[in-house]
Amino acid sequence: FDAAEWDLWSSVLPKRGTGLYKLDGLKHIETLDLDTPYGKPSSPIQIFETESGNQIAFLARHGEKHTLLPSEVPYRSNIAALRHIGVLAILAFSSVGSLQEHIAPGDFVVPDQIIDRTKGVRKDSFFGQGLIGHSSFGEPFHSGLSQVIMSCKDSLNESKLIQGGTLIAMEGPAFSTRAESRLYQSWGGSVINMSSVPEAKLAREAEMAYQLVCMATDYDSWRLNEEPVSTSTVMLTLSKNGNNAALLLKAVLPQIEEKLYNSSVEPAFFTKTGSILQNSIFMPKE
Ligand code: ADE
Repeated sequence: FDAAEWDLWSSVLPKRGTGLYKLDGLKHIETLDLDTPYGKPSSPIQIFETESGNQIAFLARHGEKHTLLPSEVPYRSNIAALRHIGVLAILAFSSVGSLQEHIAPGDFVVPDQIIDRTKGVRKDSFFGQGLIGHSSFGEPFHSGLSQVIMSCKDSLNESKLIQGGTLIAMEGPAFSTRAESRLYQSWGGSVINMSSVPEAKLAREAEMAYQLVCMATDYDSWRLNEEPVSTSTVMLTLSKNGNNAALLLKAVLPQIEEKLYNSSVEPAFFTKTGSILQNSIFMPKE
């Protein structure tokens, strides 16, 4: 690092990722340090109480100090632990690169499709070894959660909230080449990241409602008159816009609670279908 770059890094280090490392303004109830048959989750799970007295769980995907690369995140442990403690719906946040001109750094996208370009090195299923199953993944995200998020458009400061789009999930940690970036555009990709697969697949297997909220931090590598994406570009956008993810979450939470707990409004919003997975596979280790 040169001095300027180090200043930048040290100003944003505490809020790497989308800047969501804790939930300010909510009452902290307890910290759960769980173990699962798949190992420990990325971080202890923090339980908070909302203003309406409901409980929500918070897990830092890349670790409390952001020490896990996307390929190193223990996705199965994370989903198993959340499922074990009774979480029904997951609102996941991620920074992404934009593959489209109209999605500017700082804008948010609520995607509705995924193209999986991870390289098969991540453990991406609870099935196998005698436990046979195939989940339906044609619609990888939860449309009900997506609608709730879209209804909170106005909570964002000057950033757009864009409904729908195809997320390219890549392996990393290197960003894409210019040729790859243009290939993904030709496939109809809207945004690109490194950490939504297999998270979304595992949530589906565990029958949990899952929706990703993407924050664009850069234009990836397809703009030929511009430097390809680098970590500094990503960090700079995060340092400017990180707080927007928290604002959106604050607006969305009461709406989700309404759907979840006021069953007269929409009884089937999070209905479970009777998983073929037995609860025991999510139990913590003794
Ligand atoms: N996360 C943020 N920007 C990204 C990009 N351009 N490619 C992959 N993951 C990203």
